[in-house]
Amino acid sequence: MGIVLAPFRSEHVARVADLHCKALPGLLSAMGPAAATAFYEGYLASPRCVAFVDEHDNVVRGFVLGSGDPQGMRRDALRANIRGILRGMTASVLRRPGVLWLLAGGAAGPSAGGFDRRAPELTYIAVRADARGAGVGSALLAAFHSALRAQGVGRYELSVETDNHGAVTFYESRGLRQAGTYRQFATTYRRYALELPPASGTQTR
Ligand SMILES: CC(C)(COP(=O)(O)OP(=O)(O)OC[C@H]1O[C@@H](n2cnc3c(N)ncnc32)[C@H](O)[C@@H]1OP(=O)(O)O)[C@@H](O)C(=O)NCCC(=O)NCCS
Repeated sequence: MGIVLAPFRSEHVARVADLHCKALPGLLSAMGPAAATAFYEGYLASPRCVAFVDEHDNVVRGFVLGSGDPQGMRRDALRANIRGILRGMTASVLRRPGVLWLLAGGAAGPSAGGFDRRAPELTYIAVRADARGAGVGSALLAAFHSALRAQGVGRYELSVETDNHGAVTFYESRGLRQAGTYRQFATTYRRYALELPPASGTQTR
């Protein structure tokens, strides 16, 4: 199985949002594909967004998305697609009022032992269940590392639910180290960090 990654583009948005909702827990998935699509349209519009997809026979098998400036990326996304995001969120709250409870938990912010929201971040990574274990996740991670290094970023962080043992094994076997824990949306997360070796001739910050 060949793995050919492409930069995240508008033609991928709906399929990436769909995969997100199927593969990842959390608020976006709880809100559903329409709201997730609106968020991904916003991310795509941000020049700070670093994202790749693995597409094979018209199927998006996996994607990674993050940023050297995740706060800026989220701000850009809201500015770029505030109407779509509000429409998607409203529709999901009307359909599933329980989402309000998650939103309220998120508004409370991370508890003590939280993390620096300005830190470069891998925000989302997911591979379709039927394509896992074949190297797609590793290829996405490697592309994400190269793109951050090319921007002069020398370290990034990510969050993973404590009970997501598959992802924890994946990250730890790829060199990420636990940097803390926090609670959000009534869930306990581990925060992981990775120091990226500098690319030759590249200055890191
Ligand atoms: C984590 C994930 C992105 C890895 O993608 P992938 O394409 O399966 O990754 P690769 O094939 O490159 O590597 C597989 C590695 O993942 C680890 N792994 C993944 N799922 C695992 C599981 N359920 N149990 C144990 N190990 C697992 C293994 O350590 C394996 O390492 P190895 O190659 O050294 O044996 C994928 O499993 C996934 O999408 N999971 C669901 C979404 C998710 O949890 N995302 C992360 C949220 S923070």
